[in-house]
Amino acid sequence: MSPRHPAAPQRDPHKETPMPAAPTTRKQLLVIEPMSSGLTLLGAARDLGLGTVVFSHDAGDRVVPEAARAEVDTFVVVDTNDPAALAAAAARVHARTPLSGVVSGSEFYVDAAARIAHQLGLPGLPLATAEAVRDKTRMRSVLSAAGIRVPRYAPVSAPGDLDAAAAAVGFPCVLKPAAGSGSIQVSRVDDRAQLQAAYRRLTDRADFVFDQPEDGRALLEQYLDGPEYSVEGYAIGDRVTIVSLTRKLLGAEPYFVELGHVVQADLGPEARARIADYTTAVVTGLGIGLGPFHAEVRLTGEGPVLIEIGARLAGDRIAELITLATGVSLRHIMVAAHTGLDPEAVTPPAQPAAKYAAVHFFTAPGLDVLDRIDGLDVLERHPRVVEVRTYLRPGDPVPAARDLRCRLGHVVFTADSAEEEAELRAWAAATVRFA
Ligand SMILES: Nc1ncnc2c1ncn2[C@@H]1O[C@H](COP(=O)(O)OP(=O)(O)O)[C@@H](O)[C@H]1O
Ligand SMILES: [Mg+2]
Repeated sequence: MSPRHPAAPQRDPHKETPMPAAPTTRKQLLVIEPMSSGLTLLGAARDLGLGTVVFSHDAGDRVVPEAARAEVDTFVVVDTNDPAALAAAAARVHARTPLSGVVSGSEFYVDAAARIAHQLGLPGLPLATAEAVRDKTRMRSVLSAAGIRVPRYAPVSAPGDLDAAAAAVGFPCVLKPAAGSGSIQVSRVDDRAQLQAAYRRLTDRADFVFDQPEDGRALLEQYLDGPEYSVEGYAIGDRVTIVSLTRKLLGAEPYFVELGHVVQADLGPEARARIADYTTAVVTGLGIGLGPFHAEVRLTGEGPVLIEIGARLAGDRIAELITLATGVSLRHIMVAAHTGLDPEAVTPPAQPAAKYAAVHFFTAPGLDVLDRIDGLDVLERHPRVVEVRTYLRPGDPVPAARDLRCRLGHVVFTADSAEEEAELRAWAAATVRFA
């Protein structure tokens, strides 16, 4: 089953409409390592009449799926973890056919995209902003200097730092990499022994993704108690637009596996306004003045507190859920903002498909190796189901339930009420069986 495509945007004939032009003159977008939500940017670029260039290492876990690659205009193999190689490749492509914009296809290359944009004089995040959104310690220090509430935190870069950090933060706390994603190596720790074990796991090279540098940099922070939401929107200069509040569903602690997301979160107007105002202050405080952001906040007794913010599209199908439930396409907004187009002129909202849209991730606790999957066809036949995907094949080992890698697949569906959403989620979870 394929994702339901958002309705074609209504065009205003008096506004400049990007039309496909001759390949030599048309705008083109560079996407660095398109993966997860970043893959959908390529389709959005084509929708807006732009050419596409992809930079990918094309090896290990940095590869572009065959179907996406086939549609890319220019595919460049380069070590995307090497800033000098990236800069040289960008300069080469730009000299041949000028680029109009550059975006990261995942959390990991947001700062690299900003540096290339800066190098080539293209729209981009300020370099200081890009650094702060990629480094959670820096994110916290910039925000707390601006008077914005953040959890107590302490940077850690060696085992010898752990005791002082724990004394400053207090138990329970959360240990996480300074620049991670997908809840990988993030865990709650309640005492000194757990903290030391968690830091050992965090620095275990065998568990790294995308060959990220092994610098041991982590952050220990106060455990925030309260329901968690993500806040998606976009910024155009000083103007911040909050598009959606998403409820995040998590697995059992001490890990934080994301098991699902619901757009919209069921919150009263007062809580929505508090979260929206707080997030707007975070976006402004960090200087995110270009394109979509994805913030994660917990609503604590003291009000909303930031877990983290990315200056990029939300992953986990959240951008698609938002299109289904609001008609707003953040992926088109992302492409437009980063290529100098007016996002609100070229990507006006379409009709929403339903009041709620949700994703549920399948897990199989206790299963070591996947043998069989049953029930997917039942899901696919349901009129509310938009998309069903599995990530593992029979014979594949099932990773431990510590981060997003333990998820076996997902279902995206729509609903007209919060009750219907909860019923469909429970039904989907019970219908699909992994053995
Ligand atoms: N200080 C905290 N208090 C409570 N839960 C936290 C805290 N920090 C992280 N978490 C939980 O861990 C998840 C992953 O942490 P996050 O900082 O977002 O890392 P990642 O970049 O891997 O997504 C969060 O969504 C949240 O559920
Ligand atoms: Mg996160």
